[in-house]
Amino acid sequence: MAARVLSGILVIYVALVAFLNVSATEEVEKVLTLDHSNFTEIVSKHNFIVVEFYAPWCGHCKALAPEYEKAASILSSHDPPIVLAKVDANEEVNRDLATQFQIQGFPTIKILRNGGKSSQDYKGPREADGIVDYLKKQVGPASAEIKSVEDASSLIDDKNIFIVGVFPKFSGEEFENFQTLADKLRSDYTFRHTLDAKVLPRGENVDKPTLRLLKPFDELIVDSQDFEVDAMEKFIKEATIPILTIWNSDPNNHPYINSFFESPNAKALLFVNFSKDQESFQSVYYDAATLYKGKGISFLFGDSNVAQNAFQYFGLKEEQAPLIIVQNTVGKKYLKANIKPSEIAPWVKDYLEGLVKPFVKSEPIPEVNNEPVKVVVHDSFEDVVFNSGKNVLLEFYAPWCGHCKKLAPILDEVAISFENESDILIAKFDATVNDIPSESFDVQGFPTLYFRSSKGNLVPYEGDRTKEDIIKFIEENRDKPAQSTSAESESVEAADSVKDEL
Ligand SMILES: *[C@@H]1O[C@H](CO)[C@@H](O)[C@H](O)[C@H]1NC(C)=O
Ligand SMILES: *[C@@H]1O[C@H](CO)[C@@H](O)[C@H](O)[C@H]1NC(C)=O
Ligand SMILES: *[C@@H]1O[C@H](CO)[C@@H](O)[C@H](O)[C@H]1NC(C)=O
Repeated sequence: MAARVLSGILVIYVALVAFLNVSATEEVEKVLTLDHSNFTEIVSKHNFIVVEFYAPWCGHCKALAPEYEKAASILSSHDPPIVLAKVDANEEVNRDLATQFQIQGFPTIKILRNGGKSSQDYKGPREADGIVDYLKKQVGPASAEIKSVEDASSLIDDKNIFIVGVFPKFSGEEFENFQTLADKLRSDYTFRHTLDAKVLPRGENVDKPTLRLLKPFDELIVDSQDFEVDAMEKFIKEATIPILTIWNSDPNNHPYINSFFESPNAKALLFVNFSKDQESFQSVYYDAATLYKGKGISFLFGDSNVAQNAFQYFGLKEEQAPLIIVQNTVGKKYLKANIKPSEIAPWVKDYLEGLVKPFVKSEPIPEVNNEPVKVVVHDSFEDVVFNSGKNVLLEFYAPWCGHCKKLAPILDEVAISFENESDILIAKFDATVNDIPSESFDVQGFPTLYFRSSKGNLVPYEGDRTKEDIIKFIEENRDKPAQSTSAESESVEAADSVKDEL
């Protein structure tokens, strides 16, 4: 009997759950679906609308979808309602929209204001509550007023950067520029404005209109009086780069590492093993960085245990740490390997005075180089590419690059087809472990192919990567050697001597 009742309840329960599920799925989606036909119309009706650009196959988009929907549902009862929308950017018909908003990856979420007249990247969390909190802040005014010491107490924080405008009145060009800036950068920093500087930390002596930046490191407070929008932006960019950017595994440092690499300055990177050497280096390095601050060079202190990418990028080896490497504004590099703390400041001084020789990365020149496609490294580049007197087809490649792997057997065949023509050389250059020694080559991706004729005519190869097309291209662009037999045998000799060098 009891069992029967139980199973009866169970049946009702199961039916009820099923019913609830049905009603849940039948509930209207709160996230608006937009496409090319109605995007502009809908967006133009909203002062504030959030648009997710997604692709149906994208895993992160699928993970976001229920959270985004939940946030949309919560925010629909916000006052005023905040509307969340989505566009399938994978659809051919919506491609123009994706281009217009410079969508590089999925999902990309944009916040559109003023009927779509301005757009800003969403940089907040990806779960419902986080989305809700973030958007509530975004929908309000870009900068809130500080009226009291209590309002100002939130400005001391161990993570965030605050930017406060101090004004004699909330109008005029300076105030308007400040508002423009706050709108533009509101997703990166927290903006505030006040009429009363005295409520601010160390605010006693501020009288003129002032832009005050509060940060949890270095000087803690920095001021500027230039209210041109560009000047304010530049000031903020510079003031938010720490004297020493720390690169370890702490994610709180990531924004600083990003702005370090984005900075237009020359960059000095000191890598040590933090588990052994952090202490003995940090304060000495900090002092050097403080000393040379403002000389067009930014300083980063990195843990060699987490910086493998940088080691690879610069062609460095772990046993060279502790090391300091500088990359200047035109990409030249300067290295001091196995550096001691006491050597840092003198070395930086020498670098700034132009006394340090650039460092180039090169694999050793190979002793055996008898495959059809010849290996060129930085240190043999001059001899092989510029001075061999040959027609050279050169591939810049990366070992990890799939298109390069596909091209390799094709280049082999091309090389074999020219094997008896000593004036033609097919060569490859691993650009991940060798610096490219000349600015004549514009290598933005892999593979990049260039052809240099024996008389020095340099052309990129942009044709199809097939054996036939490449051979045809070489035939059309090569400079022929003189036709006499003696010249032929001479050039064979020259070729042999180059091969020996190779
Ligand atoms: C926009 O158009 C698409 C396709 O016609 C439609 O599915 C969608 O519901 C429309 N969106 C709105 C908000 O009207
Ligand atoms: C750093 O030092 C620790 C402790 O001496 C050691 O275990 C680790 O392998 C070192 N890391 C590197 C990258 O050399
Ligand atoms: C190059 O010359 C050798 C020897 O004469 C010959 O066997 C080979 O087929 C030639 N290769 C090509 C591509 O003509």
